[in-house]
This record gives sequence, structure tokens and C-alpha cells, in this order.
Amino acid sequence: MTVLLAIDQGTTSTRAIVFAPDGGKRAVAQRELPQHFPKPGWVEHDAEQIWADTVTCVRDALRQAGLKAGDVAAIGITNQRETAVIWDRASGKPIHHAIVWQDRRTSAFCQQHQDKSEWLAQRTGLLLDPYFSATKIGWLLDHVDGARARAEKGELAFGTIDSWLLWQLTGGKAHVTDATNASRTALFNLRTQDWDDELLDFFGVPRALLPQVLDTAADFGTTQAELFGGGIAIGGVAGDQQAATIGQACFTPGMIKSTYGTGCFMVLNTGDELKRSKHRLLSTVAYRLENKPTFALEGSIFVAGAAVQWLRDAMHLIKAAGETERLARSIEDTQGVYLVPAFTGLGAPYWDPQARGAVFGLTRDTGIAHIVRAALESVGYQTRDLLRAMEQDAVSPTELRVDGGMVVNDWLTQCLADILQIPTVRPRTVETTALGAAFVAGLQVGVYGSLDDIAKLWQAERRFEPKMDRARADALYAGWQDAVQRVRT
Ligand code: G3P
Repeated sequence: MTVLLAIDQGTTSTRAIVFAPDGGKRAVAQRELPQHFPKPGWVEHDAEQIWADTVTCVRDALRQAGLKAGDVAAIGITNQRETAVIWDRASGKPIHHAIVWQDRRTSAFCQQHQDKSEWLAQRTGLLLDPYFSATKIGWLLDHVDGARARAEKGELAFGTIDSWLLWQLTGGKAHVTDATNASRTALFNLRTQDWDDELLDFFGVPRALLPQVLDTAADFGTTQAELFGGGIAIGGVAGDQQAATIGQACFTPGMIKSTYGTGCFMVLNTGDELKRSKHRLLSTVAYRLENKPTFALEGSIFVAGAAVQWLRDAMHLIKAAGETERLARSIEDTQGVYLVPAFTGLGAPYWDPQARGAVFGLTRDTGIAHIVRAALESVGYQTRDLLRAMEQDAVSPTELRVDGGMVVNDWLTQCLADILQIPTVRPRTVETTALGAAFVAGLQVGVYGSLDDIAKLWQAERRFEPKMDRARADALYAGWQDAVQRVRT
């Protein structure tokens, strides 16, 4: 049997998933990734841990499926985007923990240079916000002893997590990334599809640090034979939200998906048109095939599933994420309680890195169920914020394809349909991120002939029609808007 193997390196876990060519899941191995919070608003990962977990997961997944390296047609990599790693080219060791996309340590720099925001947006489609890699690279070069001088001499390498894994998988042979990941660094010019010298100057990033940018389906190298008992071709790489767009088969302009992982990311395919948002959405590369970019508009929310994790790990209100569905169903409504999970600032469409989270409307009879339900509802309200912006900028979608770990929760998926007032559609495989990575890898090695072949494999599992009446949905949403207003700086 020939299979495809996806490495899905997300914010809170690392996974390897084996897929049959028809998209059916054959095996999954997963490891939770410890989060490091050295100061309020700072978030770091241990890149060496990420690499070790990746090897363990790939080996486990192959063992579970009873397969050898030779059975895998190709590996596809998908990853948390923007997170920045710098390592020593000679030793392959990181010079510091990776700075995670959620990290806000560079917000003062971004605040100071807001006058550059439009200039930056024209080149990169992004905003000047600590979210993107560029200011994280600058911070590492300025705060790790000798790093800037070593970077200028070409002794160091930068990468988003895909590049870091590619370097390790190929034993240092490949220092590459793909256009979707490059488009999240704030150093990549969407029009020229290359690193931009003016941006490099502005952020103080030497070109010698940067990987080569390839298409999303490309020859990314071969894994070192000793890792998995034989070399495996790496044929596809995409940032996780772009991979989910591919896994959801959103290949036609106007198609839209929303993924609920740590954060929530809504992506609208805009085809070969590089569309600019008037409502602070991002323009980004959806995928690049045969040197031809397909663009997207993206709405990025920093906290969705992370709110449930916070309920579990910081507040100890629940023991497992699965309890949220029962608790949410146990009450009629939140009785006016709103939770604004701005733990790491607010993303689209507000872009307020200094905002912080809050709970409003507490009374003497507020209980755990109300807080839990308010956390889930916040995911719906934030999605409505994004959908409104998409509608004002581009299209009014008639349905929303949803995926990610959170949408296995039927209550949440129904709640999304109710708050958005459009149907939500859950696909057969909710792990569309990993599936998308496997698809592009398969495209590269000829398992699929075209995107049309992939689109034919997409299947809906369940469609959730709105059940709440519009007036009530609007009133609840108005309460959310009021709550958000109160945390903004
Ligand atoms: O931009 C950040 C995003 O790529 C992280 O995704 O799935 O880890 O929430 P996720």
C-alpha cells in the first residue's frame, strides 16, 4: 500500500498522520508540546523538543500502521506559522527558544512604527504587529549574545517551524521554506514573491539568515535514511491555515473555511487577485503551485481552543475539553456573561496587542457552566467579527466550511451556525490541516494529477443549519461588541 504522511506541528501539539490516497486516516501519533511563558505576554517553545517529538511521532505512526519508509510516497509538512527559530548552521542547535506567534514582546517596536503600517501592508499584505516573524527575528538578533554579528557572517539560519524541521529531517541539506510560510514573516513581498530588501533593512534582518522560498508542492529534500529506516521524499509544505484551506478543497475564488485550533483562522480564496482588505484582514498566499501564487484574505483570532485550555489548566474549571459540551448544554444561556479571551491581545479586525482578557456580567448565581459557555460563545462572536469584515470586503458566503479540533463539539458547531446565521459544514475529516499537507505532497509525487482530483475527495459529514432567530443572534452579538469595546486600549 502506498500512503502519504503528514507532519502537523501545531502550537500545542506535534502529530504525524498517515493517510491513504483517498484521504482516509490510517494512523495518528501525537505529543503535547509544553508552553513556556517567561513573562506576561511572552510565549516560547523549545525547538529541540519539537524536533524530538516529530521523530517520535513519525516512527509511532509508521509502527501503528505497520508500514515502512518505503511505503510512504511522500511527506507533507504543515506547521504553526510565524513562530521564529534561529539556529547555528554548524551545530544545528537553536540559539534561543523559538518565539511563538502569540508572543507580544515586540509590541513597543510595532507601536512606535505604526506610521510604516501602510507601507508594510502594500508589500506584505500584513500589518505591523508582533504576530509576524520579522520583529521576533530582530529581538533574537538583539538579545542573544553575538547573534547579530554571527548572522551577518552567515553562521546562523532563521526559519519558521517548517524550515527548522526540513533542516533537521534532511541533516542540514535543505534550508528552505514555502511561499505560504514566507508570506507570514513580514519580509516577503507578495508581488515579487521574494524576500524584499527594503523590508530586510527596516527590520534589520540580514539576507544570509533566510531560507530559499519554494512552491507549496516542491522537492523539499529527502529525510536522512537513518531516521525512519530509509529516506522519504518531502513533497509538500504549507502553513497550517493554508494547509487547512487545501484540505477543505477551497480552490475556487469565493470559497471560505474557518479552522478552530489554538486560535481561529478564516481564509477566503481570492484566486490570482491580490485583494486588499479595508477592514484589517490580511492578504496572504493561499498556496503557490508551478510558481503561480493563489492569494487569500485571512482573519486571524489568537484565542479559540486556547480559551478551553485556559479553563482547564489555569482556572481548573474543567478536567478535559470534552466536558465543555455537556456544561454548555446544561444551561439555557450565559445570563449575560461574556468572556473576552484577549489573553495575548486582540487579532483581526481589532489588532490591539495591549488589550487583555476579561469576563463581564458576573452575578451571585454565575456558575462554572456560564463561564464555560461564555468561552465557547466567544469563539462564535469572534468568528462573526471576521465574517462581517469578509462580507464588507469581498463576499457574503452562503455557508462556512469548518474544521479543527473544536468542531467535534456539536454544540459549538451549532452555536457557530446560530451566531453567524449561516450554515456551518463539517467535513468527513476534521483534521483538514494534516490532510491538506498530505494532499500537496501527493500532488508533487503524482498521487494526484491536479487540484480537481483532490476536490473530488472532499465530503461533508454534517451540516448545521441556524436554529436561533436572527433578532436574538443580533442581540447577543451586540452584547459581545460592547464587551470587546471595554477591553480595547
Ligand atoms: O498563525 C498561527 C497559526 O498558524 C497557529 O495555528 O493551529 O496552532 O492554532 P494553530
